Amino acid sequence: MARTPFIAGNWKMHKTVAEAEDYIQALLPRVYSADGVDVAICVPFTALQAMVDSTRGSRVEVFAQNMHELSNGAFTGEVSAAMLTEIDVHGVVLGHSERRQCYNETDKALSHKMVAAFSAGLKPILCVGETEDERERGDTERKLRHQVQEGLERLTPEQIAQVTVAYEPIWAIGTGKVATPDQAQDAIAFVRALIEDKAPDAAEHARVLYGGSVTPDGAPELLALPDVDGALVGGASLDPENFARIVDAAVQLAAS
Ligand code: PGA
Repeated sequence: MARTPFIAGNWKMHKTVAEAEDYIQALLPRVYSADGVDVAICVPFTALQAMVDSTRGSRVEVFAQNMHELSNGAFTGEVSAAMLTEIDVHGVVLGHSERRQCYNETDKALSHKMVAAFSAGLKPILCVGETEDERERGDTERKLRHQVQEGLERLTPEQIAQVTVAYEPIWAIGTGKVATPDQAQDAIAFVRALIEDKAPDAAEHARVLYGGSVTPDGAPELLALPDVDGALVGGASLDPENFARIVDAAVQLAAS
């Protein structure tokens, strides 16, 4: 079963609407013929509407970087799934390590956010990954087991088959320290085995991405790993040419 490769760029807190417009005008012609690869940009809330409008009819999907698990309420500063789908946002990043670490995002809330995303028709990318300490202590699998099991806990097998999980070792995010191919392959194969435990028939459909200091030069080796279905790209996605080169790497592999 061939899964469609998926390259997603996570801008984090970067780019005003004007900067986002310049970016997308540079990116669209570069990825126009990226056949066989799904491409998404995950942009700040303020740029969502502009990016949805500017990418309409193109192959680039637009994702939010977070949302609340409930449909409305007294939650100052939060945004619901319906607010995202109303403006035709395609998906949402959930549980990025920066949200877990800086904003106390919990696995329990994430298990509800996953359901809320699917119910609204949003495609979630669930982020998981260990800290450097956890890896050194030999706790990587324990951490991944906990995060994947909780994140998928409330989903049906049909929903799990449509899930994207991004394995992002926290020590590799924004540090320039990329996981070795063995580390990435082992962790991602383990994530897929966890998905299989939960929903045996879904594991061959669910996509698992690698994230953490992915660059145009490093992407081909990571993307070629047997269990890696794509990449969640932070810093290198901020430049349209660099991001397009990572998409190119996925296109070439898909065609080979
Ligand atoms: P990075 O970020 O590529 O800058 O390491 C990845 C991420 O946080 O998703």
